[in-house]
Order: sequence, then C-alpha cells, then structure tokens
Amino acid sequence: MIIAPYRDKLSQIVILNPKGGCGKTTLATNLASYFALRGPPPMLIDNDPNGYTSRWLERRSKDSRRIHCISDCKLTILGKRTWPSRIPSETETVIVDTPAALGPREITALTRNADCILVPVLPSAFDIHTATNFIAELLLLTQFERPVAVVANRTRLNTNSLEMLTRILADFETPTIGVLRNSQNYVHAADLGLGIHEMPHHRARKDIAQMDLIANWVDRLLRRTWEPEITPAFNVQPMSRAVGAGLAYAE
Ligand SMILES: Nc1ncnc2c1ncn2[C@@H]1O[C@H](COP(=O)(O)OP(=O)(O)OP(=O)(O)O)[C@@H](O)[C@H]1O
Ligand SMILES: [Mg+2]
Repeated sequence: MIIAPYRDKLSQIVILNPKGGCGKTTLATNLASYFALRGPPPMLIDNDPNGYTSRWLERRSKDSRRIHCISDCKLTILGKRTWPSRIPSETETVIVDTPAALGPREITALTRNADCILVPVLPSAFDIHTATNFIAELLLLTQFERPVAVVANRTRLNTNSLEMLTRILADFETPTIGVLRNSQNYVHAADLGLGIHEMPHHRARKDIAQMDLIANWVDRLLRRTWEPEITPAFNVQPMSRAVGAGLAYAE
C-alpha cells in the first residue's frame, strides 16, 4: 500500500511493459473508467512524457464519471515522488501508466508500492520472447513480492501464440488474467475519452466481457466488494482459470 497517513484504503495498480504500443495506456484508461463507474473517482498517474493518458482525460466529457489525473509534465515540475500526497481523499484506486523503454532503476521506483503489476503483451513470437524476459527481470527487481499478471492484448483465443504465452508464463507462476481482442471499439472509446464500459453495450458487449475478467481479477486481488446493486453482472473467476473463463466470451 502507498504510505499516505490520512487514508487507509488506497490501492495502486501499475501498468508496465517496456515494449511500446502493447496497450499500457489502453489498459490504464479502461481500468480507470471501470473504477470510476463502480466507485469513488480513481486517479491516473501519467508517467509518460507523451501524455496520452492525460490527453485521453482532456477529451472526456464533463458529464462522464470523474477521474483524477496527474500528468507527467506536472510530475516533472512537482517532483516525481510527490504524487502520493496529491491524491484526493475520496480516491481509493491509483492506476499508474508508464512509458516504454524503462530501465531497472525506474522500474524499481515505479513498482515499490504497487499492489499489483499488470503487463499487457501482444502475443507475437517476438513480443512473447521480450515479455517473458521482462517478467523474469520484473520478478527479480520486485523480489517476488508484488503480484504480477499478464493481459494478452489484440489477440484471439485458441491461437498458438497465446497458448505459447500462457505456457511459458505458467513456469513463472504468472497468470494470464485476460485476453483482449483487436477491436476498433478501443480506438473509438479512446477518441472520446471513454472506456469500453462507457460505450454502447450492444456495440462493445464482447469487449466489456473481456475487460470484466481483468477488472474482476483486480477486484479480487484488492479484496474489493461492491454494493449488491452495483455488483457487475458477471462471475468472478478464480485467477488460474481466468483465461479459460474468457473462452466463454469468445465467439
Ligand atoms: N485491443 C485493442 N484493439 C485495437 N486497438 C488497440 C487495442 N489495444 C490498443 N490498441 C491501440 O493500439 C495503439 C497502442 O496502444 P497503447 O497506446 O495503449 O499502447 P502503449 O503500450 O501505451 O504504447 P506506448 O508504449 O507508446 O505508451 C493505440 O492506438 C490503441 O488505441
Ligand atoms: Mg502509453
């Protein structure tokens, strides 16, 4: 947990993969949108000088559920380590988006207080090789003390590459908690400053179901419970079966 003396319920999710374009910002913004719909306004920490997360939030309509954000530019001015003291007291979840090409020192600093680390991976042969090396390094850097999970992005279930990814990761005891298909809904949602859960349900139904598995896993890990009336209408899946459960949503 983050050391913030004035609150006792603050969880930090760090999205990490030094490989560019694998879906870090997509996952960070979609989880923020999910948490904003389900509970108090979450906070995004945008560590990327490109500022795509901050720009996503700027596009967001004032009528949408509130999400707080600290941009990389602001972090540079205020000091990278000052953000825990700038989190609004209402916030219970912090999602940290990170840039590509980070070195070991930066990774260590970013993950020091993480409650979980999510690694989006594009499961091509090359990306799997890079991602598994990175996860091995990450587990060593975090001394195996932080839960690490993988999200296979822009892929279909039942592919050889996905099977290879989950098999290799099983050796590291790192679960693949979700599979996101390649979908223009993510691109349209990002243009509007929205998450997949805020898109018309009839259009984004499959993507919502896939993202729900990831959000469920995070909720379970962080021991979140929602009021019965806002409990998502999907089953919470055991971690190890998350990918298998995703099969139910594949069409
Ligand atoms: N499942 C998906 N389906 C379709 N498009 C996607 C999907 N996931 C991500 N994208 C698109 O791929 C591009 C790269 O995604 P994103 O910006 O999330 O990656 P990133 O890891 O944050 O990149 P960087 O390392 O440059 O910060 C974006 O245009 C995004 O909209
Ligand atoms: Mg990004």
